[in-house]
Amino acid sequence: MRAYMAGTGRFLPPDVLTNADFVRMVDTSDEWIVGHTGIRTRHIARTVKNADMAEAAARAAMENAGCAPADIDMVVVSTVTPDRAYPSLACDLQNRLGLPDVFCLDVSAACSGFIYAVDLAARHILTGGARTALVVSSEKLTPTVDYTDRASCILFGDGAGAVVLKGDERQGGGWLGSLLAARGDDGAALQCVPGGRIKMDGHEVFRFAVRVMPEVIEKLLARAGRAVSDCKFIIPHQANLRIIKAVQRRYALPEEKMVVTIDRYGNMSSACIPIALDELNRAGRLEPGDLLLAVGFGAGFTYGATLFEWSE
Ligand code: ACO
Repeated sequence: MRAYMAGTGRFLPPDVLTNADFVRMVDTSDEWIVGHTGIRTRHIARTVKNADMAEAAARAAMENAGCAPADIDMVVVSTVTPDRAYPSLACDLQNRLGLPDVFCLDVSAACSGFIYAVDLAARHILTGGARTALVVSSEKLTPTVDYTDRASCILFGDGAGAVVLKGDERQGGGWLGSLLAARGDDGAALQCVPGGRIKMDGHEVFRFAVRVMPEVIEKLLARAGRAVSDCKFIIPHQANLRIIKAVQRRYALPEEKMVVTIDRYGNMSSACIPIALDELNRAGRLEPGDLLLAVGFGAGFTYGATLFEWSE
């Protein structure tokens, strides 16, 4: 039995905030933002709900996978910005997509959410609990952004990414495992405070990220008997270009191996990784047998990595 990615999708809301827009809002400059973060633009969900974005990404992934609503028997959504506390975004999605009465669950693991959600779905498939799982990471972060705090408001954008994971009896390939972790005692460094705003200690988050990302990459690859050089692409969470470059330098990786979208989209929390994956897929840059590693960290702190071979 294997669990493999059969299709991907994404949705970016149409409105865009440029660095020039931030120059009009706070004391900043394009040079500072690009130099310190790598970000140039981000998409903003002014007129769409989180569920609208999740639905659009899910429909795109289902179409890409060639699967009908009746095929889906599990929905896992990662989000820290649901439109409402309950019902879950997964149940909302089930209703919008006309899915049968299947397993629907939201996962709250902040920017590591996609890695956690894929793990849940893949293990469910491998143990016979599901055959076709829809995994969606959808984040409408911008209403939680404090647009008077120049150190954090420039970082965030909105968007959704989705994958369809399928199971079949073939041997090898597909999902090869993941490593998930959390460190709750550092949680105050990045949190949603009463009033629903993001509060973060940027330096603390930065230090944590550059320490744990190589740690989980190495542990997961060692467990799978693979090396960084075997990976066609590493898809890191997109929090800061300098964090991504630190990982790239650590392994002396060629630039094209590290997937970067932060310049166009900013940090969309758990949606970053599946959106990047969908871009690779739709650009025809993935071939069967390609080894892909996604790695992330986020509020919690949560962190982790997932490894899979692109398969047909
Ligand atoms: N424009 C101009 N100057 C600024 C800006 C800005 N937008 N923001 C901060 N500065 C100033 C600071 O006030 C400081 O000035 P000072 O030296 O006079 O005190 C100076 O620039 C340097 O500030 P630093 O905080 O040292 O800048 P740094 O290079 O560390 O970048 C940043 C800050 C971008 C926040 C970085 O630390 C970072 O990216 N950290 C990780 C953030 C992250 O990953 N968050 C995850 C959130 S995900 C989630 O779950 C929601």
